[in-house]
Amino acid sequence: MLALNNIGHLVTNDPSIGNGPLGIINNAGLVADDDGKIVWCGPQDQIDQYTEAQPIGCDGCAIIPGFVDSHTHIVFAGDRAQEFEARMEGLPYAAGGIQSTMMATRAASDELLSLNAQHLAYEALCSGTTTLEVKSGYGLSVKDEERSMRIARTVTTETTFLGAHLYPTDVDQEDYVDLVVGEMLNACLPHAKWIDVFCDRGAFDVDQSREILKAGAKAGLGTRIHANQLQKGGGVQLGVELGVASCDHCTHLTEKDIEALSSANKTTVATLLPAAELCTRSPFPHARHMIEQGVTIALATDCNPGSSYTTSMPFVMSLAVILMGMTPDQALWSSTQGGAQALRRTDIGNLCAGSRADLVVLDAPSHIHLAYRPGVNQTRAVVRGGKCVVGAL
Ligand code: NIG
Ligand code: FE
Repeated sequence: MLALNNIGHLVTNDPSIGNGPLGIINNAGLVADDDGKIVWCGPQDQIDQYTEAQPIGCDGCAIIPGFVDSHTHIVFAGDRAQEFEARMEGLPYAAGGIQSTMMATRAASDELLSLNAQHLAYEALCSGTTTLEVKSGYGLSVKDEERSMRIARTVTTETTFLGAHLYPTDVDQEDYVDLVVGEMLNACLPHAKWIDVFCDRGAFDVDQSREILKAGAKAGLGTRIHANQLQKGGGVQLGVELGVASCDHCTHLTEKDIEALSSANKTTVATLLPAAELCTRSPFPHARHMIEQGVTIALATDCNPGSSYTTSMPFVMSLAVILMGMTPDQALWSSTQGGAQALRRTDIGNLCAGSRADLVVLDAPSHIHLAYRPGVNQTRAVVRGGKCVVGAL
């Protein structure tokens, strides 16, 4: 049982119980049950009707739903600080860097890989991420993809098989696709909920990506795609054609791609990853234009050692607002409810009755401060499943 009151600004993402699209309630109370589910959110003077417990006061702070980071690659070893340094001196980002993380990952013990993944998941939790998707993709052999997926499964239920992240240079390309859709998929299946493919220059082409996603779907996995990150191409259109849950990156889009995403906005979300654009000095997609055209947008970190080594959703929100034209309200929605939609979940990303009591208590008067104060930790406490797991209430 959890009862909170004196919440200055409560974002529920439920327009039926609060103001505007974010369903904001001022001077609010919240009650969760022993199973960690929300029972009630509303004006604090009504809280006695929903609990006999003495509520914990929140000193007028803001509370938001926990962040849903629907795109990370946190199972890896080593880092690529030197590649980053060289890039900042002018070298371009290319898919080939994945190979060096593959070698470090293959050489690492299970214990080290697990510790790294757990450390990054905890870092994310400390900035308010209560649900995390985690991909494989730095093993690129049957054995190393299987253990990456096994380790991913210890940190989240939202696990994604990304054997099609890159061809290892010592393997024939067509043989590798056969391996991914055959033995590797079978080995990873017990630990996977999703399948993903990097459909781009230097990685997999549209036909190979279609074959891989269809094989995953046939085996019972949900589908998602890395699309249009490095150049314009057919990735987004393929994602819409196959009805994937999410087309991720969407850095280089044509108006046709935007139309396709808009026509599929109930099934396929566009997940934007502005920290990847920042860290690879790439152009930012025009999120505001996409929203105006009717595209549903999620925001995520893309945490990985090559293109975006951050776990911070508040930082991603700042980038989305300051550099991609999103409003603070849109960025908050996309980082919570949008992420949940990208994972086809309705029980997270909002504080509706029946949803999981995953929330962040901010040292701030409203969610606007998340974008307004870039890089500043404003997390006072994080609650997951009704229990305080970071900070104190
Ligand atoms: O999402 N685009 C493909 N994969 C990662 C980067 C991987 C890497 O550079 O190690 C991404 O940006
Ligand atoms: Fe990625």
